[in-house]
Amino acid sequence: MSDQLIIFDTTLRDGEQSPGASMTKEEKVRIAKALEKLKVNVIEAGFPIASQGDFEAVRAVAKVIKDSTVCGLARALEKDIEQAAEALKNANSMRIHTFLATSPLHMERKLCMQPDEVLAQAVKAVKHARNYTDNVEFSPEDAGRSEIDFLCRVIEAVIDAGASTINIPDTVGYTLPAMFGKLIGELIERIPNSDKAIFSVHCHNDLGLAVANSLSAVIHGARQVECTINGLGERAGNAALEEVVMGIHTRNDVFTCTTRIDTTQIVNCSRLVSNITGFPVQPNKAIVGANAFAHESGIHQDGVMKHRQTYEIMRAEDVGWNANRMVLGKHSGRSAFRERLKGLNIEFESEEELNAAFVRFKELADKKHEIYDDDLQALVTDAFAMENEKVKLVSLKVCSETGETPHAQITLNIDGKEHSVAASGSGPVDATFKAIEALATSQANLLVYSVNNVTDGTDSQGEVGVRLEKNGQIVNGQGTDTDIVIASAKAYLNALNKLEFSDKQHPQKGAPV
Ligand code: KIV
Ligand code: ZN
Repeated sequence: MSDQLIIFDTTLRDGEQSPGASMTKEEKVRIAKALEKLKVNVIEAGFPIASQGDFEAVRAVAKVIKDSTVCGLARALEKDIEQAAEALKNANSMRIHTFLATSPLHMERKLCMQPDEVLAQAVKAVKHARNYTDNVEFSPEDAGRSEIDFLCRVIEAVIDAGASTINIPDTVGYTLPAMFGKLIGELIERIPNSDKAIFSVHCHNDLGLAVANSLSAVIHGARQVECTINGLGERAGNAALEEVVMGIHTRNDVFTCTTRIDTTQIVNCSRLVSNITGFPVQPNKAIVGANAFAHESGIHQDGVMKHRQTYEIMRAEDVGWNANRMVLGKHSGRSAFRERLKGLNIEFESEEELNAAFVRFKELADKKHEIYDDDLQALVTDAFAMENEKVKLVSLKVCSETGETPHAQITLNIDGKEHSVAASGSGPVDATFKAIEALATSQANLLVYSVNNVTDGTDSQGEVGVRLEKNGQIVNGQGTDTDIVIASAKAYLNALNKLEFSDKQHPQKGAPV
């Protein structure tokens, strides 16, 4: 059995299925470049049949990524497979991932198909995908609730048909670690041609067990894990890449395989994904949470000072904490700015876009003397997001005083025309949102409001996330500023623009079921 564990990242596909986490093509390319730097083996870039937007995003990722295989998802249907192949055709290395459900519940109630029909369709799909590439992955969806005898039949047949990766999804996060590990071991043992394929797992976190299930599967022979940055994904999410990878690295006394991941890139990737999707990372999140390496108790602090390993099993710097170098300041010029952005894999399509970003950088440097990589990432995310907005913030004045009702006066540019209004609220943010609503009249429901600091210190930029819902559609908006009320206004407007003025639905909503 191979001693290499393949890390298959699906942040751009399953991760994007988190409510409100839709990403633009440019955002997907930025994340894909960061994943390539992290050295993931496979990037699942999207579901090309789902929408034109997702097709274009997969195509754009396939074009720029050189060191990771780029994968596209397809149902076990010819049209899906052809669309995936078309989106991936410029990739240096491509993979088609096709799937079909095999659990009694899904076959009977969702697909309305007999088991033999499912088996035949799976084989047909894999053979069709092989017309475009040798690198074909098959997933028996809802494998965690499928019957093992039927799974063995399907998997043996699709390996014969040419699938080189067999991915076992626990689609609904139902299995338990011992049970799931045993399933993987039994499949590998019972399927006569199992040595012709790599066994992979794809675990969801509905019971909080996605990482535990994945690691248990690795112990029993799985050699690919599908995961996402920060554990983003459908419902409770997928297995978190950073936890799987650090589990394997830290417990190399147990695991007989290693990954090729550059772990020092983990924190950067986590921040970028959080910044772009607007999904904050909880402070106590393993590896990438702000408290993951912080010691509060005196006994622990004393122990760590005497000998770090008394209370630390990993080194913060090994996952990229403290790597956020102070890079630029007020006196930095355009070429230093451009160079640093290049180091962060950020490129602008035109000189005008670079100039506009540079102006924003200078404005920020006037307020905040030390500009870190995270500041630059946030600044660029803001700039890209605001570029196509129909409703823009022109000015905001907020009065907040003890004993007085907070008051906000706002001017918005809506489709080229300026409108002003004033409103009061229970706090400055509430007053600001009410003022925006007085002009925009969206009547959207505010589901989530969160503020995080981008870097340390009271001069840090605040990164605000806003999640809005209207008629079942959910969107996330982000805004960053050293003034958190202005950041809040930007975040609300960013979400509103996506909700009200974008003709694009969620990129993965378009696939017919
Ligand atoms: O969870 C799941 O079953 C999936 C498949 C498409 C692999 O995401
Ligand atoms: Zn999934």
